[in-house]
Amino acid sequence: MANLINFTKKYLKGRMKDILNLKTFSKSDIIRLLELEGEEMKELFAASSEVRSEYCGNKVYFRGLIEYSNSCRKSCLYCGIRCANPYFTRYTLSDDEVMESANFALRENFGSLVIQSGENNSKAFILKIERLVRKIKQMSDGKLGITLSLGEQTEDTYKRWFDAGAHRYLLRIEASDPSLYKRLHPDDGIHNYADRIRALELLKKTGYQLGTGVMIGLPFQNTGHLADDLLFMKNFDIDMCGMGPYVEHRHTPLYSLSNQLPALNERINLSFKMIALLRLMMKDINIASTTALQAIDPEGRTFALKIGANILMPNITPSMYRDQYNLYENKPGTDESPADSKESLMKIVLDAGCEPVFDEWGDSKHYKNRNEHV
Ligand code: 5AD
Repeated sequence: MANLINFTKKYLKGRMKDILNLKTFSKSDIIRLLELEGEEMKELFAASSEVRSEYCGNKVYFRGLIEYSNSCRKSCLYCGIRCANPYFTRYTLSDDEVMESANFALRENFGSLVIQSGENNSKAFILKIERLVRKIKQMSDGKLGITLSLGEQTEDTYKRWFDAGAHRYLLRIEASDPSLYKRLHPDDGIHNYADRIRALELLKKTGYQLGTGVMIGLPFQNTGHLADDLLFMKNFDIDMCGMGPYVEHRHTPLYSLSNQLPALNERINLSFKMIALLRLMMKDINIASTTALQAIDPEGRTFALKIGANILMPNITPSMYRDQYNLYENKPGTDESPADSKESLMKIVLDAGCEPVFDEWGDSKHYKNRNEHV
């Protein structure tokens, strides 16, 4: 009997090796890998961890996250800051508050920052962001890299912000399957899948390092959708990815479907498997270990770094606004000051066996590689 078990284990190991060494992953390969459990799942993580070390070293780069405003013109059915949610106070940071946060990032040697906000396409907003990007560049003597995460905008706006000095942009596709996308967004003319794809194309055309991502464990979503999400990112040839588990928020329409969701431990394991697989499929991109991972599992961000992620985004929004940028419930870090955040972040990096890197932009190697090959 023991011999049989050993034989089976060896056989499985051999087959796993073949799968993990694949040059291209088919949808059925990915589905099979997303469904791994136990020892086989651990083998997947060991493989992605190895690829991460080989292609990205053990370095982890920081992007200080400034949550600029929780006002949003959209009403995504999963998101706590949707404009149709009346149960909280809206805020927008003043210029001084943004500059204070940027200064904090500079003093802490974070290397880069991200300005994220609910979506707003007013002229005043566009000009304000342009001015802030220029001011941050000037204040930091060009030292701080700037990523924007400000939703769908026109080509002219993307170009304006790029010319001002932003060089990376995050826009999650959220769900790459058009019919799933439709079920997660209101049908009101401003939540179109085609517009989102167009925005991603414009961002790439403008010259940004492009980041996208999805939510994992959504209602109506199966492993086929998630496999398609990974193939979407591969085909779109993205430079960066931020993805994490869907976490329900009581003041959103999707909350009524909470009883149809995968259990929390399943959602977190699926998220880890998605990160590991993306690392195998896109070896030189930047992958963020996202805050939502930690909302479900206190060790979530540490584990993601162990198995393939290489970016952390410490929240440097002034503390008085933190609990108002409420994308989902139990969002971690809302009661921490920026200084506490740094301490908890260092612990995450070191516990993951990684090396924190300061004062470097930590650009996506993939961006460099793809531009050298054109
Ligand atoms: N659970 C997890 N992530 C969410 N986001 C929005 N709402 C939720 C939620 N309920 C994510 C979206 C968005 C990012 C800023 O936050 O993917 O792109």
